[in-house]
Amino acid sequence: MDKQLLKDISYGMYIVTTKDDKNVGCVINTLTQVTSNDIMVSICLNKNNYTNQVIKKTKRFSVSIISEECSKELISTFGFKSSKDYDKFKEISFEEIDNLPVVNKDMCGYLICDVVSITDASSHDIILARVKTCHKLGEDTPMTYKYYQEVVKGKSPKNAPTYIEEKQTKTDEEQWVCEICGYVHKGPLPKDFVCPVCGVAASNFKKVL
Ligand SMILES: Cc1cc2nc3c(=O)[nH]c(=O)nc-3n(C[C@H](O)[C@H](O)[C@H](O)COP(=O)(O)O)c2cc1C
Repeated sequence: MDKQLLKDISYGMYIVTTKDDKNVGCVINTLTQVTSNDIMVSICLNKNNYTNQVIKKTKRFSVSIISEECSKELISTFGFKSSKDYDKFKEISFEEIDNLPVVNKDMCGYLICDVVSITDASSHDIILARVKTCHKLGEDTPMTYKYYQEVVKGKSPKNAPTYIEEKQTKTDEEQWVCEICGYVHKGPLPKDFVCPVCGVAASNFKKVL
């Protein structure tokens, strides 16, 4: 099976947010519009993601559509750190809408959604939701997953449903892979090394070559 073919499937880039006693959220690429009259969307969230655990309780979320203007740092914060132990909202621009935190800078617009059903999909949950509000924020171009990978040179963590392990190229140099984001470090790994993509310590790296 050539899993590399799955890279030819197209997606957009989004930030899903919600709140219980604190604001939480994460990057996703798996939003799909499902119906058009009674507008519904589906999103796919890893069971270990804290945002998913909170959405299961609150049954509400907002989705911001990421534009090409969005910084790699913001995507890394929402896509690699966990809201469980980190306040992702402390240094970013957002507003409270309908009692939900909505990321509003370098975003094309946002949706406010109510959960309709949750379907078990092994490691992930597929969440079907009714769209209550659609609000456009500007004319920026929406970022695609391909643009994120090829222009922003961004990676995806294992929790992303579309994560595909990179093929290693044979070389004489030793290579270490970050088990959180897939970043490859070439050469010996210093003990105090910090991943330049997701910020985790050297203990999260596995020697692959
Ligand atoms: C480009 C990109 C796409 C991602 N897509 C998804 C996705 O569709 N579903 C998902 O559950 N996680 C996805 N993730 C991973 C989550 O954003 C990540 O696991 C995050 O740290 C979860 O944070 P939380 O624990 O605060 O919810 C993606 C990450 C990146 C960088």
